[in-house]
Amino acid sequence: MSRPLLTVILAAGKGTRMRSSLPKVLHRIAGRSMLGHVLALAKSVRGEKLAVVVGPDMEIVRKETLSAAPSAEAYVQTQQLGTADAVLAAREAIKGHAGDLLVLFADTPLLTQDTITSLLGELDRGAQVAVLGFEARDPGSYGRLITAADGSLSAIREAKDANEAELKIRLCNSGVMAFRLDAPLDVLGRIGNANAKGEFYLTDAIEIVRSGGGRAAVVVCDEDEVLGVNSRRELAGAEAIWQRRARDKAMVEGTTLIAPETVWLSFDTVLGRDVVIEPNVFFGPGVTVEDGAEIKANSHIEGARIGAGARIGPFARLRPGAVLGRDVHVGNFVEIKNVTLGDGAKANHLSYLGDGSVGAKANIGAGTIFCNYDGFFKHKTEIGEGAFVGSNSALVAPVKIGAGAYIGSGSVITKDVPADALALERSGQEERAGWAQKFRTMMARRKAGAAK
Ligand code: UD1
Ligand code: CA
Repeated sequence: MSRPLLTVILAAGKGTRMRSSLPKVLHRIAGRSMLGHVLALAKSVRGEKLAVVVGPDMEIVRKETLSAAPSAEAYVQTQQLGTADAVLAAREAIKGHAGDLLVLFADTPLLTQDTITSLLGELDRGAQVAVLGFEARDPGSYGRLITAADGSLSAIREAKDANEAELKIRLCNSGVMAFRLDAPLDVLGRIGNANAKGEFYLTDAIEIVRSGGGRAAVVVCDEDEVLGVNSRRELAGAEAIWQRRARDKAMVEGTTLIAPETVWLSFDTVLGRDVVIEPNVFFGPGVTVEDGAEIKANSHIEGARIGAGARIGPFARLRPGAVLGRDVHVGNFVEIKNVTLGDGAKANHLSYLGDGSVGAKANIGAGTIFCNYDGFFKHKTEIGEGAFVGSNSALVAPVKIGAGAYIGSGSVITKDVPADALALERSGQEERAGWAQKFRTMMARRKAGAAK
């Protein structure tokens, strides 16, 4: 019986303090843009209707919006006249919507679903407007929440317009608000700009709703959740909070992190049960680690799937398209890109495997290189099940090594090798008996002569 919800996400701010050519809301936390985080949150709370308000010349923000949430509409706010004006930029979306309205800021990426759900719950309990507040460590320039004796919200006072007593209030406005109004455009349209900043304040909606007999409610959350990002330092601060939460969640769900504060997760990292992660491991986007796998120290992993019981690292690099089966071993200084390794395959030391496949139980010796690139095109190396590639072999793609074949160490393989064959490409070994002994004697004499 829940009413439909329209979420309007404000993203028109330029973010000057980032000192960046990229709009602020496209800066990333855990591998996903701040806007992407907010869109994902909006989608997760009955968010079938999404509107993003962008500034002029922000085509790139519109693109990110559509790629993160194809059903979302982007609206342009031509001039930044304040938060109420920004919401009204999405007028067309609001006009056609009968239901609740939620306003989020795209530069506030740490909000949780639980908090938004309890905010919307206030509307179910009869409030016409619900505001998310927090006890600020330093209230500074935040809007202050002025509450009545019954705990309801009387007004929000922007810091620049507040008197001394109001400035002492520590309960502040996060900016997140939800509305349950029959005519939201009427309320928004009545907001003026006769204030210290000359802006149209969305916060003025509280007094307008109350003057019409409506009730305004406050939901209080932790300050960390509503941290706004305005600078690179705050971006790093938000990243740190996000990482702490994600590590805690991973441990609660059954992953061992030996030194949690040194492991960096992505927004979409999936870790199975009894996975063990040693210190200093970095996960880029798109990684799944199945149950019981072990990732040893100093490994860098992105776009990879790691099968159950696999052992990775230390110092392994898995790049996009690395798909590792059960019990695969990948050791130190091995780089794998766009290669599938079958169950029980091993590449334990110092190799580059790019573009191709390695059959189950095959063994890739130290120093093996898949020579996948000819300067123009990429080619595939395909290695059959149970094949044995001797150390320091160069496999020049396109090339296929049959199942169970042996490649002699140091070979440069340019032609396909049949199953169960031995391929060897190296010059014959030469020996000269006693040569070393004679050489040493001769050189020792020469050195003694020179010293005289
Ligand atoms: C706003 C709130 C304040 C609250 C604070 C929390 C108002 C009037 N004030 O203040 O009570 O404590 O957030 O951080 O709402 N934006 C636009 N177009 C505009 C203006 C803003 O898209 O014309 C966007 C910004 O990009 C930003 C958000 O809205 O994401 C908030 O705007 P900002 O100027 O930072 O509001 P504050 O003055 O900080
Ligand atoms: Ca702000």
